[in-house]
Order: sequence, then C-alpha cells, then structure tokens
Amino acid sequence: MPDPDLDVSGRRCAAVVANGDRNGVPVGVGAPVEAIAPCSGTTWTRVGTVDDIPRLGSRVVRTRGEDIAVFRTSDDRVFAMHDRCPHKQGRLSQGIVHGTSVTCPLHNWVIGLDDGIAKDPDEGCVRTVPAKLEGRDILLAIVA
Ligand code: FES
Repeated sequence: MPDPDLDVSGRRCAAVVANGDRNGVPVGVGAPVEAIAPCSGTTWTRVGTVDDIPRLGSRVVRTRGEDIAVFRTSDDRVFAMHDRCPHKQGRLSQGIVHGTSVTCPLHNWVIGLDDGIAKDPDEGCVRTVPAKLEGRDILLAIVA
C-alpha cells in the first residue's frame, strides 16, 4: 500500500487535501515538510492559497509527523493548529468554523483559532501553528 505522505518522487510532502478526506486528491501541494519549526527563528512554507479553502472552511496540511488544520474565516483570515481536539482527539478540520473559533465535530468543544484554547467550561488547548497570508498565498511556520 503506498504511503499517502509521499509524493510521486518518494519525498515526504505537505499536501492540502479536502476537508476530512485523507485519501482525496490534493488541491494544492506545498514544499516537502520535515518537522514543525523550532520556537527560535521562523521558516515560512507556502502550503497553498486562500482560495483553496472555502470561507468558514478548512483544509489539512500533512507534515511528516502530524496533520495541521488550516482554517479560513469569513473575513479571509487564516489560522492553523494541530488537527487534534484536546478532548478526545477529534479532527478539528472537520469541525464548524464560526467567527474565530471552531467547534469540534465529536462533542462540540469550542476551540479558539487564534490561541488554540478551549472555551469555558471546557479546558485544554491545541498547539497552534503561526500562519499568514502573502497576497493569496498561505504561509505556515513549518520547516521545509
Ligand atoms: S473530541 Fe473534540 S469535543 Fe470531544
């Protein structure tokens, strides 16, 4: 069975895939990704364009070690965080985006997109990944 994280040349790569469809056809393919960037120093990696994500939607960027959920708000801001809910590991990329939060699809915890913190009364947090737009391009602080 082929490794879904390898591209056609056998390199590990980041692929932006359809929301919740881990075997779907990538809608954008970024540079090879090896690991999350260390805290000191930031390397920005292009992972696609904002047009790859519907407003109030999300996509998944696969890295070597983990999946990163990238979200687009109604006013075209982008946020990224690890694609695991702090409650029971639900896929936040399959949640509902509203304002600057996402509601987990499994048990409805609400997670702040900007800080990764679960909203009261729930407790916990998700590690966020710095994200920014350069024009229409989405850049994440991950090591290429
Ligand atoms: S796994 Fe997300 S709320 Fe339970």
